[in-house]
Amino acid sequence: MSQERKTVLSCIQPTGDLHYGNYFGANKNWVRLQEEYDCYYGVVDYHAMTMPYDPKKLRNKTWDLIFNLLALGIEEKNLFIQSLVPEHAELGWIFNCFCSYGHLSRMTQFKDKSQQSSESSKENFISAGLLNYPVLQAADILIYKADYVPVGKDQDQHLELSRAIANRFNNQVGKEYFVMPETLHTEFPKIKSTADPTRKMSKSAGEKHYISVFSDEARIKKQIRSAVTDTGDTKEGEMSEGVENLFVMLKAADHQEQHDTLMKDFNAGNLRYVDLKDAVGEALWSLSSQFIEKRNALNENKKEVKQKIKASSAEIRKVAQETLRDVKELTGLLNVKF
Ligand code: TRP
Repeated sequence: MSQERKTVLSCIQPTGDLHYGNYFGANKNWVRLQEEYDCYYGVVDYHAMTMPYDPKKLRNKTWDLIFNLLALGIEEKNLFIQSLVPEHAELGWIFNCFCSYGHLSRMTQFKDKSQQSSESSKENFISAGLLNYPVLQAADILIYKADYVPVGKDQDQHLELSRAIANRFNNQVGKEYFVMPETLHTEFPKIKSTADPTRKMSKSAGEKHYISVFSDEARIKKQIRSAVTDTGDTKEGEMSEGVENLFVMLKAADHQEQHDTLMKDFNAGNLRYVDLKDAVGEALWSLSSQFIEKRNALNENKKEVKQKIKASSAEIRKVAQETLRDVKELTGLLNVKF
């Protein structure tokens, strides 16, 4: 393999269904990046423990997401499960000592999630894991010396923190050991909820606010058919957020020609919303039907697929172990091969 290939890393939490906001906004790009880069994609189960969660369900959710990512086109060899590479947690601990408490407490995601947690759980339990979440994320990234991290804007602060940790580490040990990871900013289409196009498509708002990638034909088409198109405050000739969202999805699904034709109709003032909706419904279903077919085929060989992911995680772990050996050497920890 050529030496110049850069390394890409991204991770996703096993917190449930994948929807079209995830797919068009991230996973579709992950699939594409595999052609050009050495990619590491992790299902981060240690991260999923930072918020109140159900231990009985976590393992199934982790496998479910693995199968779903494979169905979308992520290659086996690039996929790993975080807890099968425990060096992430070990490096995370070391990084905690190269990161200031003040920096962590200023993270917006921590502020948002700790507030969410105190509102939703009876216990009002905010774990130290939630505060330290971005340190573990820095370990995920730096352990593979990732050059690029494809994530949304909401993760910019975490990337900044990863660089701060890498910098402090390099300064303290007196060696430019870690490379500075950069966010890979691609113009991702931002998909809105079809039930309320003023908010983004997301699971947390409830079932009608997201379209699952693995949903059945009837449900997908029904959700698109009932998409809100008129929000009332749209001026004559202007496009409402709901209609725009449908156009965005059509384009994201690579139906450019159809998109352009319907856009012409819109500009001429004679677009029939039902035509746009039918087009989007068909476009999404043609994607979902392929994903479901692949997913079903994988389900036929569950055991074998799981075995392969364990093997790919073990292979990826070797890279992580090498980094950790260097880190122990540089930080003065003991380094013994048992
Ligand atoms: N924090 C990311 C999210 O909420 C998930 C994540 C964990 C991640 N570790 C990562 C993303 C490393 C990129 C790189 O989406």
